[in-house]
Formats: sequence, structure tokens, C-alpha cells
Amino acid sequence: MHHKFAFIMHPRYNVRADMGDWLAPFSLVPDWAWPIAFDRLPLPPMITGKVFFPHQPKDEAGILITLPFTPAQMLTLPRSRVQAKLDQAVDVARDMGAKIIGLGALTAPISAGGKTLAKRTDVGVTNGNAFTAAMTLAGIERLLPLLPSDPLIAIVGATGSVGGCLTRLFARRHSGRLLLVARNKGRLDALAAETRSANVEVDISLQMDDVKKADLVVLLEQGL
Ligand SMILES: NC(=O)c1ccc[n+]([C@@H]2O[C@H](COP(=O)([O-])OP(=O)(O)OC[C@H]3O[C@@H](n4cnc5c(N)ncnc54)[C@H](OP(=O)(O)O)[C@@H]3O)[C@@H](O)[C@H]2O)c1
Repeated sequence: MHHKFAFIMHPRYNVRADMGDWLAPFSLVPDWAWPIAFDRLPLPPMITGKVFFPHQPKDEAGILITLPFTPAQMLTLPRSRVQAKLDQAVDVARDMGAKIIGLGALTAPISAGGKTLAKRTDVGVTNGNAFTAAMTLAGIERLLPLLPSDPLIAIVGATGSVGGCLTRLFARRHSGRLLLVARNKGRLDALAAETRSANVEVDISLQMDDVKKADLVVLLEQGL
């Protein structure tokens, strides 16, 4: 039994190609016309695809919902207007039976990583960072057999969106030693207190140099 999901996105730079992939006649609409149509016509979010898994070919696993905005419009139209269309797309997803919604492309940045949807209790929303954390854990698990026994794993950026999820996942599933690194001591202390257990030894550091002690360093600090 799986929960149905929805993935919300918008056409990419070449709007005509993306929209034409969905409905062939749209490929006849010239590039210049799309931003004007999106801006002036009261178009709703569109269901542009359905996802089926090979082992359950008759059971609709997910739906793809496209916001009628170009990437430039996502970034430059008044945020309230883009947010309203995103809210509408979330309603469509919920009404179609989706229990979890992924924020694709620029729908995550324009909603502050999904924070503007945090008030919604009717559906779950993910910006993809939980998936990144899960994939990072899978990567660590592949490396564990290659490390010395009782390895020290440093997580730089441990208190961030991805790092926090990864640290909690690791502490839930593994025993071992963690070194959590970031700049804000209060947040590090809180995370260490939450994840420390009989099986998981947790130290914190504000000094990047301390990762030299670690057998494995996971870098999840904010990029440039
Ligand atoms: N490949 C993918 O699919 C994918 C997906 C999501 C994110 N990412 C990348 O993963 C990284 C983390 O993303 P996020 O969303 O978790 O970011 P975030 O929520 O902003 O977290 C950043 C973390 O880094 C720490 N940090 C920032 N500057 C630091 C510094 N100079 N020294 C030590 N710690 C520092 C922050 O804590 P303090 O402020 O206390 O230092 C915080 O713990 C980013 O580089 C992002 O681009 C990749």
C-alpha cells in the first residue's frame, strides 16, 4: 500500500517544448506567446502527467502538476500571485487524493523551501531535502564497511535542513560516534541532546579544523 503523491513544477526555459510534450498542438504556439498567455489568461494549475510503477501498472502512484508560469515569471511576478497559484496546485493535488507533495524546480525557492505551506495540515509537503538526507545516509552506509572500526563521522552543517534530517536518521538507525559541526552553538547543543543515546556518542564543534579527527566527513554546509 503506498500513498499517492503529487509533484508540482512549471515549464522550463523552452516552454513550447515542455507544453508540446504534454499536448502536441501546444508545440505550434510560438515561444513569445507563452509568457503573455500565462500572464493574461486565468489558467489554473494543469495536471500534465501521471505516474505508474511497473509492478502496479493499473494503480496511479502519482500525478504531475504544472504551474502556468515560465521560470522568469516564477521569479519576477509578485510573490503573492505565484504563491496563490502554488496554493491552488496543492488544492488540486489534495483533491486528486495525493497525500504527499513534492515541490519541484522553482516552487521550492519561491515558497522558502515549503515554509509558506507549513500551515497546511491536509497534506505533507517536501522540498526534496529529506530525499537528499536519505540518499546521503545511503552513501554513508556504503562507506561504513571501508572505514576503521568505531569510526568518527563528522557532519558539517549538521543543524541545517539536510544535515538535521541526516543526523536524526543516522542516530535512529545506527550506533557510533558523530561530530556535529556548524557555527551556532545553541542549535548544535539542542541537536546533540536530541540525538545522543546509549548507542550514539555525539560531540559538537564550532571549528572546521576538528574534522581532521574524523574518519569520514560529510559536507552539508551552505554553499556560496
Ligand atoms: N544535491 C542535492 O540534491 C542537494 C539538495 C539540498 C541541498 N543541497 C546542498 O546541501 C547543502 C546544505 O543545504 P541545506 O538546505 O541543509 O542548508 P541549510 O539549511 O542552510 O543548512 C546549512 C548548515 O550549514 C551550517 N553552516 C553554514 N555555514 C557554515 C560554515 N561556514 N561553517 C560551518 N557550518 C556552516 C549551518 O549552521 P550555522 O549557520 O550554525 O553555521 C547549517 O547547519 C547546501 O550546500 C545545498 O546546496 C544539495
